[in-house]
Amino acid sequence: MKKFIVIGVGRMGSKHATNLLKNRVDGACLAAIADCSTEALRKFESAHGKVRCFTDWRRCVEEIKPDAAIIATPHYSHVPIASELIAGGIAVLSEKPEAVETCEALRMNEIAAAHPETPFAIMYNQRTNPVYMRAKEIVDSGALGRLKRVTLTVTDWYRSQNYYDQGGWRASWSGEGGGVLINQCVHQLDVLQWLVGMPERIYAHAGTVNRNITVENEMYCYMEYPDGLKGTFTASAHELKGSNLLEIAADKGKLTIGKYSMKYYRFTPSEEVVNATAKRGYGKAKVRVKRYRYGLIKLIRDALFGQQLNVIGTFADFLNGKAAKPVAYGVEGARALEFINAAYMSAYSGKAVSLPIDPEEYSMTIAKFKEEEKNNGKVFVR
Ligand SMILES: NC(=O)c1ccc[n+]([C@@H]2O[C@H](COP(=O)([O-])OP(=O)(O)OC[C@H]3O[C@@H](n4cnc5c(N)ncnc54)[C@H](O)[C@@H]3O)[C@@H](O)[C@H]2O)c1
Repeated sequence: MKKFIVIGVGRMGSKHATNLLKNRVDGACLAAIADCSTEALRKFESAHGKVRCFTDWRRCVEEIKPDAAIIATPHYSHVPIASELIAGGIAVLSEKPEAVETCEALRMNEIAAAHPETPFAIMYNQRTNPVYMRAKEIVDSGALGRLKRVTLTVTDWYRSQNYYDQGGWRASWSGEGGGVLINQCVHQLDVLQWLVGMPERIYAHAGTVNRNITVENEMYCYMEYPDGLKGTFTASAHELKGSNLLEIAADKGKLTIGKYSMKYYRFTPSEEVVNATAKRGYGKAKVRVKRYRYGLIKLIRDALFGQQLNVIGTFADFLNGKAAKPVAYGVEGARALEFINAAYMSAYSGKAVSLPIDPEEYSMTIAKFKEEEKNNGKVFVR
């Protein structure tokens, strides 16, 4: 039985702690919670009864000597806390994003690489969506042939001014390190890179629309990938009845992926053959369609306990030698983050940005955003 602690028991961390406390994770138990806010600790205890509580996470680690820690604090504290824990030999499951700046994530990854015996994972729970898992199998099998186009639309993270007015660390460059991209879309951007890899170039436009915030609540990106794959990505947090759609078009097939179901179209013959053999100006292939769904029981379970429980469960299994790997290694967190940093740089400069980015350049860019924020400026309102 592995002893877990949860650091940060706000909205998300309290759910992780509850799942552990209620024995919903095989081979793991909640040994203690740590939060710098006594109010957060009291709130958890008043809902669940007596738990070992600490206002200082280092004290918690010293006294409890846990096997693993889940970090669910605001973004800027992920790397400082995770790096100390990993260096101290405590397995870490960090909430997303891995970091705010690529340079911090790379620093974190170096520390993780220097401690290969200490597991480091990241909470990319959307990788446990069965629809995305099936899409990954199909793409990796090569059955789609050459990928041509990827289109990702994520406009279902609606946030009103009231959400932003609740204050705290959210929706600011100094507190969160960005807006809809780094907070919400990091999940989908991870799934995107997990499926099709990283782009070589990003050209982006960002906006702050109809909200009194300094960060972006919309983003439009055009991406170029190796081997001719091209893509677009649209994100918005101000659209009612938003969409969540991922489409991957390829030579031998196409995936149309929603949040809960996917259609897989298979072409016989491939587009390349259709084109080479067409005797008219148009072309056609035989199309077979297969539909995949999330699955009702899994959907109910994930809705009740959170998709994050899948990640914690696999992490505990990994620590107990029952799973070959975590859902996502922590070091993989740098990828979606680099995409996001590149998009911010491009949107700010008005120029396309090549990847890998220069991490120092992004640090200088975000420093400017923070300066503008201090002067009550909105970085992406021109
Ligand atoms: N995986 C997901 O789907 C998902 C969903 C929501 C939030 N999150 C992530 O979870 C993290 C927390 O988000 P939240 O919505 O729970 O925020 P929150 O503000 O509700 O909770 C954060 C908690 O951390 C505590 N805290 C801050 N600094 C601390 C420190 N140094 N030591 C100990 N405690 C500290 C705060 O007092 C607070 O109680 C963020 O990284 C967020 O992006 C992930």
